[in-house]
Amino acid sequence: MIEVQHLTKYYGRHPGILDVSFGAEKGEILGFLGPNGAGKTTAMRILTCYLPPSSGMAKVAGYDVLDQSLEVRRRIGYLPENVPLYHDLSVSGYLGFVARLKGMQGRSRRARIEKVVEECGLAEVRNRIIGKLSKGYRQRVGLAQALVNDPDVLILDEPTVGLDPRQIIEIRELIRNLAGRRTVILSTHILPEASLLCNRVIIINKGKLVTVDTPDNLKNRLQRGMTVEITVRGDREAIRGVLETVTGVSSVTDTSAPSAGTCAFRVEAREGFDVREPAAQAVVTNGFGLLELAPVDMSLEDIFVELVTQEDIN
Ligand SMILES: Nc1ncnc2c1ncn2[C@@H]1O[C@H](COP(=O)(O)OP(=O)(O)OP(=O)(O)O)[C@@H](O)[C@H]1O
Ligand SMILES: [Mg+2]
Repeated sequence: MIEVQHLTKYYGRHPGILDVSFGAEKGEILGFLGPNGAGKTTAMRILTCYLPPSSGMAKVAGYDVLDQSLEVRRRIGYLPENVPLYHDLSVSGYLGFVARLKGMQGRSRRARIEKVVEECGLAEVRNRIIGKLSKGYRQRVGLAQALVNDPDVLILDEPTVGLDPRQIIEIRELIRNLAGRRTVILSTHILPEASLLCNRVIIINKGKLVTVDTPDNLKNRLQRGMTVEITVRGDREAIRGVLETVTGVSSVTDTSAPSAGTCAFRVEAREGFDVREPAAQAVVTNGFGLLELAPVDMSLEDIFVELVTQEDIN
């Protein structure tokens, strides 16, 4: 349903997104996860034809966003970061206005508005003025306007930002129900949100795609504790025994090369334990020669630490 290849967008000399490629199948909920300035909104604006890419290609339902933008727009509903609602219109008045803008007419327009009002839980407030609605309800109106043309693809830019916890749960539930036969792309800063809603998550940072995976796989990679590789001179079994008693160590695997005169171990630690210092200490105080000690396979954790740190700064 969505195909993106080597997509790049420069703002002047600064890249908003750089060489990003991914795809999304029909019915899939795909999450864009990344800190402020990662390029989430930029990618979404390109997919919705609000911005032309500098290079690369993006297709929606087989139509190119540059050459066939009318066909793309017809198939897409977009909830931008800041929904351009008209605060002095009523809910149904505003949805009627959006439907007319999208070229819908007469009875089918009225029927469609009925449907989205129902789907988005807006029936009780349909005659209320938008400016007087709570933020959660305004977000529902934003979702309703994205749905008016019954799009195959829904693009939601941080749909739960600024909502209280109860509204967040309601909007997530609504998004889940709206998905079904539609393809949904939503952006978020929040890893648990992505894992709750999405079939797959794309992590982007500083304009670049970091990884694409299912939430479960990501969580497994994230939640795994620290792994340390350690090289020691001494008796193999004795060293293993010492390492196994270090607090926080969950497993010790012998990785020594057969011909080497030294022993190598891969030490796995339980989550939340930094075993480097106690492991080094245990080796040395037991009279063995510590040759090398280094954490391994931390790349995804590093990435997340970076993501989270940036989020804290912003
Ligand atoms: N109109 C613009 N002109 C110049 N630079 C821009 C423009 N829009 C975005 N950028 C830059 O492009 C980069 C990506 O921005 P983008 O808004 O796509 O990130 P984002 O992931 O949506 O961030 P946020 O979580 O804050 O919404 C940022 O460095 C930003 O400063
Ligand atoms: Mg954004």
